[in-house]
Amino acid sequence: MNLKDEKSVYLDEVEFEDVSFFNPQTLMIFDSSIQLMHVINIAHEVTQSRTVIGKPVFSRLIEMEAEPVNVSEFQELARLALPKMFYDFYAGGAEDQHTLEENVKAFQRIFIRPRVLIDVSRIDTSTTIMGYNTLAPIMIAPTAMHKLAHPEGEVATARASANANVIMVLSFNSTCTIEEVASSCNAVRFFQLYVYKRREISAFMVQRAERNGFKAIVLTVDTPRLGRREADIKNKMISPQLKNFEGLISTEVDTDKGSNLQAFASGVLDASLCWKDIGWLKSITSLPVLIKGVLTREDALRALEVGVAGIIVSNHGARQLDYSPSTISVLEEVVVAVQGKIPVLFDGGVRRGTDIFKALALGAQAVMIGRPVIYGLAAKGEHGVSRVINMLKDELELTMALSGCCTVKDICRSHVTTEIDRVHCRL
Ligand SMILES: Cc1cc2nc3c(=O)[nH]c(=O)nc-3n(C[C@H](O)[C@H](O)[C@H](O)COP(=O)(O)O)c2cc1C
Repeated sequence: MNLKDEKSVYLDEVEFEDVSFFNPQTLMIFDSSIQLMHVINIAHEVTQSRTVIGKPVFSRLIEMEAEPVNVSEFQELARLALPKMFYDFYAGGAEDQHTLEENVKAFQRIFIRPRVLIDVSRIDTSTTIMGYNTLAPIMIAPTAMHKLAHPEGEVATARASANANVIMVLSFNSTCTIEEVASSCNAVRFFQLYVYKRREISAFMVQRAERNGFKAIVLTVDTPRLGRREADIKNKMISPQLKNFEGLISTEVDTDKGSNLQAFASGVLDASLCWKDIGWLKSITSLPVLIKGVLTREDALRALEVGVAGIIVSNHGARQLDYSPSTISVLEEVVVAVQGKIPVLFDGGVRRGTDIFKALALGAQAVMIGRPVIYGLAAKGEHGVSRVINMLKDELELTMALSGCCTVKDICRSHVTTEIDRVHCRL
């Protein structure tokens, strides 16, 4: 059977009317075999129809047979596995994508100063984050809509993070509900929050997260409006209806003018959110509140003043303000301002264990990983996410051994040299 035949057979067999999760129009724009397979996978999950499982799914597994050895290889597998629209959504950044590139490249300009003749026969990567023990200083960053990467969505990610004993931050814009994720496995999880113009919706989400055992609220503060992601505009990226908001808000927006994400976000996000609102958030929950999206010493000091429980240095994976600095280049500025009073977490561009080591040396308590998790999920589902976490953990362990650090606490500022250090040396 050639591909053309397969395509028509499978499209005939899937009952698109049943695919409530998916906008049926979207299905028609995919044309390559791999893209079609992905759609079939999603359709299967919704319809539970045996007829759609067959050669396409099998071929997809063959495609993914080779075990990737690093995060970049997972990214390539994800690119092959996903419809272009979804891959671009996950991989892309804002406007010229200058910050997107810098997030990764800035790590490459930091060098490690290894120490020798230290007994490194035992390495312990475990640490404590916000009072919780974890296997490594690695967390799962909140990223939206995991079901576009894999039919099991955030539940697969949650299971992988629970098995690896690392903390997952569930996105406000998840495709599995808060309850589905909470009941999928026992683990320490945080909940990421956007504040909507209709505050009662955000408050309701906080209450649901709290009721379902989430341990902290991560308030994202860099998104008064959505960044301009041009790939999504070109692709007319379509967001599925998010089950968490069923009966509360509709995500259906006319896509004729481009991506519906921007139109949806501008309709719902509260651009008036400001420092005094941290007080409001603290008043509606007993959970600790961290803020995600701080890039300057000034904002770090304000955060201390309003009494947040932690700061996450993040530029939203370079999806918001292009030409904002790479996160690793400003981490130390924030760490110095905070003076150890609250934990500083970090995300943006972490692709290697050496990157984690560098961020810890510059004062982060832990790093969060965004896209690598999605790439693992897209390529191999829950197993892929586990592989990505373990790969990064193993790389960190090796870096520690080769640098003379037996524990996470041993990693300190003198283990790295930055561009600024090198300039100072020359003066
Ligand atoms: C596809 C995608 C969706 C994201 N969705 C959210 C979100 O819903 N909430 C949020 O606070 N951050 C979101 N982020 C930002 C991540 O939490 C994180 O800051 C970023 O991905 C870290 O950079 P990295 O992808 O280079 O690891 C998203 C990032 C990506 C790539």
